[in-house]
Amino acid sequence: MASLTIRKLDEELKALLRLRAASHGRSVEDEVRVILREAADQREASASAPQSQPAPRRHAPATASGKERVTLIIGGGIAAYKALELVRLLVKAGADVRCALTRAAKEFVQPLSFQALSGRPVATDLFDASQELAAGHIALSDWAELAVIAPATADLLARARLGLADDVVTATLLAIPPERTLFAPAMNERMWASPAVAETMAALKARGCSTIGPNAGEMAERSHVGLGRLAEAAEIAAACAQKLATLAPRPIPSHLHDGPAQPRAWDLENVPVLVSAGPTREHLDPVRFLSNPSTGRMGFALAEAARDRGARVTLVCGPTELAPPTGVEVVRVESALEMQAAIEPRAAQQRAIVMAAAVSDQRPAERAQQKQKKPDGDEHLRLVRTPDILRGLGERFLNATPRPLLIGFAAETERVEEFARAKLVAKHLDLIVANDVSGAEAGFAALENRVVVLDKDGGRAQFAGPKLAVAHHLWDEIARRL
Ligand code: C5P
Repeated sequence: MASLTIRKLDEELKALLRLRAASHGRSVEDEVRVILREAADQREASASAPQSQPAPRRHAPATASGKERVTLIIGGGIAAYKALELVRLLVKAGADVRCALTRAAKEFVQPLSFQALSGRPVATDLFDASQELAAGHIALSDWAELAVIAPATADLLARARLGLADDVVTATLLAIPPERTLFAPAMNERMWASPAVAETMAALKARGCSTIGPNAGEMAERSHVGLGRLAEAAEIAAACAQKLATLAPRPIPSHLHDGPAQPRAWDLENVPVLVSAGPTREHLDPVRFLSNPSTGRMGFALAEAARDRGARVTLVCGPTELAPPTGVEVVRVESALEMQAAIEPRAAQQRAIVMAAAVSDQRPAERAQQKQKKPDGDEHLRLVRTPDILRGLGERFLNATPRPLLIGFAAETERVEEFARAKLVAKHLDLIVANDVSGAEAGFAALENRVVVLDKDGGRAQFAGPKLAVAHHLWDEIARRL
């Protein structure tokens, strides 16, 4: 074999190779040899498989726009957020991508994020008339040259094997020719090792479906290590390209022609950002505290939106019932002092710090170690100020370079913009997000938000909508200033 010049590969590919090699305990050169051997075996196998068509190499573009059309099906697993990176890579490689999410996938990642990255409407599990027109199961299967299923959970694999068609995802899978599918399984290593999954995989492969992964490595349950991790996004993207190259072009049905996709920029790639979220609790004794009704929703939406744009997100969050987004580093705190201790040592490493937390301004002067008995009559509670974390950061970074962008929130019930601008100046911030919390429809605990963003140079912008959409508007503003 001719010598391999790995140095000349691009950085992303090299990183991927190193990762694969390490997970298989091989040198990078050996890993490349294995990949080449596998590719050669696969080509031989597909040439001799009875059901396979002669597979002309693609030379001509498949559509007028020249883009290859990939339907990405996202199953409900902890790795679902990694499918976002896959969309980004596919779009970057020139593909037109449409996404469909199972009901369970929506528990891990929001359709809106896939819509933003693909620039296309997203199908969810509902058979909904508007979705049928936009991206229903017929469109998704007729339109696609290749369907990629990532993560393919044990459940989704079994449903595909059985040929169920009770939601948009399984119906799409049933309608697309098996040789146009690429499954990227991801599950707990014991599930992957089960006879049931082995039978499922064998059945799918016998039909002509392709697979990639799973890889070996650490599972979502940190103590578990084994085969079951979703293949890396770059590996799946590379497998897609390889697969598309072997498939005959598929003409696009005339009724499914639509305008060009308009994907959102992946503009925070590898940018370290910190978001604070939720309330703080200031204890009087082990069972009583001062707090506020913040649910953390806005901060979580900000963390999720930043993650979906490629950022490395640290989420410092106070006590809340909601589950934080996956794929971000979560630091749990309870009191304002704990929040300060979590944020300050991490601050200098960030490019942007968004303080969406509703930090208590006061705390009881004393915290009793034991539950306090009721007094007979009224009592006075002595409160002391908590540190203003954001103001502290503003003062610390006032003349520093480089310094993180500092973004504060100002929840007000009156003279909203006036009070918010005063805080922007007093705390030395770059941006402040003012919201009127006097009504019930926006602000604390609501699903929607309506905000005015003020910047230190006098700029003003206004956004309203679901909190995730507002979060994206805020990151648009922040990314422009980074
Ligand atoms: O002054 P006010 O509490 O209205 O300011 C709100 C902004 O300041 C929010 O971004 C909040 O997270 C932050 N803050 C803080 N530390 C406090 C109080 C508020 O960082 N003790």
